[in-house]
Amino acid sequence: MTEKTVDHLIERLDGLAPSTAMVLGSGLGGLVDRIENPVRVSYADLPGFPSSGVSGHAGEVVAGLFSGTPVLMLSGRAHYYEHGDAAAMRPVLEVLAGIGITKLILTNAAGSVDPEMPPGSVMLITDHINFSGTNPLIGEPSDRRFVGLTEAYDAGIRQAIERAAKATGTALHKGVYMWFSGPCFETPAEIRMARIMGANAVGMSTVPEVILARFLGLRVAACSVITNLAAGMTGAELSHQETKDMAPVGGSRLATVLQHVFRDKLLES
Ligand code: HPA
Repeated sequence: MTEKTVDHLIERLDGLAPSTAMVLGSGLGGLVDRIENPVRVSYADLPGFPSSGVSGHAGEVVAGLFSGTPVLMLSGRAHYYEHGDAAAMRPVLEVLAGIGITKLILTNAAGSVDPEMPPGSVMLITDHINFSGTNPLIGEPSDRRFVGLTEAYDAGIRQAIERAAKATGTALHKGVYMWFSGPCFETPAEIRMARIMGANAVGMSTVPEVILARFLGLRVAACSVITNLAAGMTGAELSHQETKDMAPVGGSRLATVLQHVFRDKLLES
């Protein structure tokens, strides 16, 4: 299945050969509008790709020039909480590796555990805590499953993002992302725990993709846009509507930073 999908996607890309892919989180799909001459392929046309059922996630591959560099964007991801499958993104990442992608930049919407990192902030993920109790490599029979995650988040890509943030005058927080399974939001007690454990932000995605990317040998980096202060920090109840409404605020900041990464070819230096 993967090989067929690889061939099909290569054909649809019609000579475009991106080495970087980006996964766009909830409310961040607007990034695809910054792609020139986009080729759009619906996930429905790509066997193995998820039929994402989360509102705010479109479910298509959009590839083209992003600040003059060939880039492939995935608008829409599968989440563990949809079907209880932590490896739901594995076929997608295998296809990306198959078409020659070597670098992966993941984005997500997240809640902040830190009052000093308010909604609208952008956080470069430096490390993660897998609090889900599961792992996308469970069931993988080969010894390749023993993936080292000491330096999961690629130093070179992180440096490029930090340089771009500086160059564009964008405040860039750095911190640890803690993966909760979802789909409920956390309780205030869980958020107090997360803070004690060293998390800066909490969310329901990204970590399985980081693990799968490292398994497949892709260089990976990830950024969160903060849509809310986490449960119990303001007295207000959380909602997915708030996530969708607030993601574009930090999302446009993140888009500016990422555009600069490619415009100045920072990933190549
Ligand atoms: N918790 C988990 N996931 C999230 C949050 C949150 O507060 N905000 C956006 N995604």
